[in-house]
Amino acid sequence: MNEAILENKCRKPILLTVLGLVVCVGMLAMPYLAGLPRGEAMPDLVRFIGRFHPVILHLPIGILSLVVFIELGSVFCRDGRSSTRTALFFGAATSVLAVMAGFLLFQGESDWADSPGATRHMWGGIAFSSLAIMTFLVKAWTDSGASAAWFYRLLLLACAGVMIFASHDGASLTHGPDYLTKYAPPSLKPLLGGSAAAAVVEKPAAERLVYADVVAPILEEKCWKCHNEKKVKGKFRMDTYELLVKGGKEDKGIEPGNADKSNIIIRTGLPIDDDERMPPDEKPGLTADEILTIKWWINAGASPTQKLAEANAPAEVLAAIAKRVPAAPKENPAVAEAAAQAETDKRAALQKTVDEVQKAFPGAVQFESQATSGLTFTAVSMRGKFSDDDMAKLGPVITGLVSVDLSASLITDKSLALLAPAKDLRILRLSETKISDAGLDNVAKMASLESLNLYGTEISDAGLQKLVGLSKLKRLYVWRSKITPAGIEEFKKKLPDCVIEAGI
Ligand code: HEC
Repeated sequence: MNEAILENKCRKPILLTVLGLVVCVGMLAMPYLAGLPRGEAMPDLVRFIGRFHPVILHLPIGILSLVVFIELGSVFCRDGRSSTRTALFFGAATSVLAVMAGFLLFQGESDWADSPGATRHMWGGIAFSSLAIMTFLVKAWTDSGASAAWFYRLLLLACAGVMIFASHDGASLTHGPDYLTKYAPPSLKPLLGGSAAAAVVEKPAAERLVYADVVAPILEEKCWKCHNEKKVKGKFRMDTYELLVKGGKEDKGIEPGNADKSNIIIRTGLPIDDDERMPPDEKPGLTADEILTIKWWINAGASPTQKLAEANAPAEVLAAIAKRVPAAPKENPAVAEAAAQAETDKRAALQKTVDEVQKAFPGAVQFESQATSGLTFTAVSMRGKFSDDDMAKLGPVITGLVSVDLSASLITDKSLALLAPAKDLRILRLSETKISDAGLDNVAKMASLESLNLYGTEISDAGLQKLVGLSKLKRLYVWRSKITPAGIEEFKKKLPDCVIEAGI
């Protein structure tokens, strides 16, 4: 069989066709024969093999994508000799392996049993693999003289379409439904199917609801990843109010009026090394402010519809809420208008200096959005050419910067000193630059910093310690620096809410 497919001109591939169809039928019958996932009842070997699914699945995706590109290329330039048959064979074969491993993974997780998302992904994978087999078979027949080239192209196209759909489904299962859209520009979010939860902040304070606008966003950020319609860990969904109350395998999710008896409070309040603590595996949990807020809401009866303005929250709860959602200055239309006008004026005043900098560095400085006066700067297109002297030319715009990307540029600690006055700076990327621990004295002054990238720098534990005062820091990238796990531990004691990406 192998010689037949590797030779450029095939004999009639009857045997291959029969074999291919048997595999397709086998895959389609598999879910019916095996029944619902049995989770822990499955042998460890099943669960072990299942975990290879995320590794194997990239093979068919890569191979099939390559075939699509080769075929597209052949529309413009025919050399009449090359055939994608062998590539398709490997694409189809690895897709079957991916489906098998995926199926074992599915069988080994009892939570998948009532997850419509997981079932849909399983069928998507089986459909993709069956189409890949069919595409290969039709290609083998056309190569042996049958005239079905158009049918082959049609199948290849269908196969690629189903592949995109199934892989997106799979990614949503593992990373949560908003993985793709979380950091997308707001205008793109609805196009990509993202949730509109982010828009909530904009609501006038008087209209804000305790559950929908305060409690649910906390749960969305910290819990929905594993407790949603696709992933239903502990048979518990938290993505609607009714399901949140209803609870899971073990108990009701909340007990209105009694926070201390509510499972979400019990589970989140456990010590970090307790197996039952939520979220599991030492993932960043609820902050004290978030727990305080949710407890207050439950004790007050856990209303799904009450307005924050009418809920009589005690001052400490209001303070806790304010820390999460910056109060939008929109209670009064006149105030909102004045705020918008102030931004417009600020933009107009900045415009001239921005234009000047723009001349020296085309495209590098931009307003963050149309409604704000915050500026972003990126040296990415200049990389190896951008130095401390260039940084000095940014002079007048520096105080307006909210996001700066200096990755892989020539800058040193001198540039950090120049950046120190950027009091509104939220995002700073310094990866693969020559900065040193000494330079971080200036970074420590940037009180608004939320995300800092130190990937591939010489920064050490001593430098990291200088940053513990940055109370707004949420994300820190230290992969391939001199920072040690002990240094990270020490840092986490001071800033427990900051997620540190240290690589593996
Ligand atoms: C990384 C995945 C993950 C995240 C994030 C997560 N959980 Fe869970 N959760 C699980 C798993 C797995 C179980 C089932 C095992 C268990 O009961 O301990 C579970 C079970 C639960 C249960 C028990 C449900 C029942 O009745 O059996 C509660 C309550 C819960 N989680 C609350 C939360 C809360 C609140 C958050 C957010 C602060 C959260 N979880 C975040 C994975 C997660």
